[in-house]
Amino acid sequence: MSTARDQANSLSASGVRFPVKLVPVPVKDVGLNAALKAESDPLFEVKPTIFDEFVLTGKVAVVTGGNGGLGLEFAIVLAELGAKVYAVDLHPTPSSDFAAAVNYVNRLGSSLEYRSSDVSKQGVISATILEIAAENQGKIHVCVAAAGILGPEIDCTVYPPEMFAKVMEVNCNGVFFTAQAVAKQMRLEKITGSIILIASMSGTVVNREMKWLPYNTSKSAVIQMARSLACELGSSGIRVNTLSPGHIRTKMTAAVLDVQPATEAFWASLNPMGRIGAVHELRGAIAWLSSDASTFCTGSDIMVSGGHTIW
Ligand SMILES: NC(=O)c1ccc[n+]([C@@H]2O[C@H](COP(=O)([O-])OP(=O)(O)OC[C@H]3O[C@@H](n4cnc5c(N)ncnc54)[C@H](O)[C@@H]3O)[C@@H](O)[C@H]2O)c1
Repeated sequence: MSTARDQANSLSASGVRFPVKLVPVPVKDVGLNAALKAESDPLFEVKPTIFDEFVLTGKVAVVTGGNGGLGLEFAIVLAELGAKVYAVDLHPTPSSDFAAAVNYVNRLGSSLEYRSSDVSKQGVISATILEIAAENQGKIHVCVAAAGILGPEIDCTVYPPEMFAKVMEVNCNGVFFTAQAVAKQMRLEKITGSIILIASMSGTVVNREMKWLPYNTSKSAVIQMARSLACELGSSGIRVNTLSPGHIRTKMTAAVLDVQPATEAFWASLNPMGRIGAVHELRGAIAWLSSDASTFCTGSDIMVSGGHTIW
């Protein structure tokens, strides 16, 4: 009996144009498939499999902006899942938080290394990605592009062009240069990897009362960039998604929260949960997006914002 794929392929051969090459749907002995196997085969080993789908043992992961804040938390969760992790950041030497993270990860039996680089300079970040790949037989399986800057809060009518350009250079160009270098390497090595671009809820809604036009613009660009990358890279089996956090206290937001402490209560009042988020509350989303637990997810924007955008 001919399948839908056979029919599509024969139509394609007859000149009908299909937008993508069709590939087989994966079959896995998990969930109901496992239950049915167990029913018919008494020797079939019954065990929970969901946690195995998150395992990154033997994989190589790169996290930009990994010297602190969200990036360092992402690096730790990837290492906990078994990946060999490289954190890339602007500073020549890593922070004391990073040193503690390395000790912690080493005690877990995983590896976390630091590389200094600048994502906004294509030649620099692509050389860093190539070096990391070279240390790992060409292989990079996961990339989280988290390096970003907020830029100063200035009225849109007088926002200085050089400051607008700076925010775009890091948040937009830098994310593109990172994803581009990693995708090139994944394609070369035929790796069905996962690339996660850290956008923001500010790419979809505007943070009330905050004059962050360049930041918001850059994050919208990142969301559309991920969709475009997902379309071009899907046929190579490379997935690209965005993770869009809501308000979370890090060095970036501390620049506002520490200067105007009332801001935290204001931001907290803007979502139904009545609080801002903690860095660790993104661990599950990163684990899911980076692993085989999300193999059918690409071109999606995963919003983790305490429901900020519902209102
Ligand atoms: N904290 C939040 O509430 C929040 C919300 C939504 C999205 N985000 C996004 O999450 C990401 C991480 O932000 P964070 O809150 O951890 O901020 P952070 O300031 O703590 O971390 C950002 C990191 O990026 C690095 N960086 C900046 N420019 C760089 C460059 N040119 N090359 C390499 N590294 C560079 C910084 O040195 C820093 O370590 C950013 O993209 C940010 O826009 C943060």
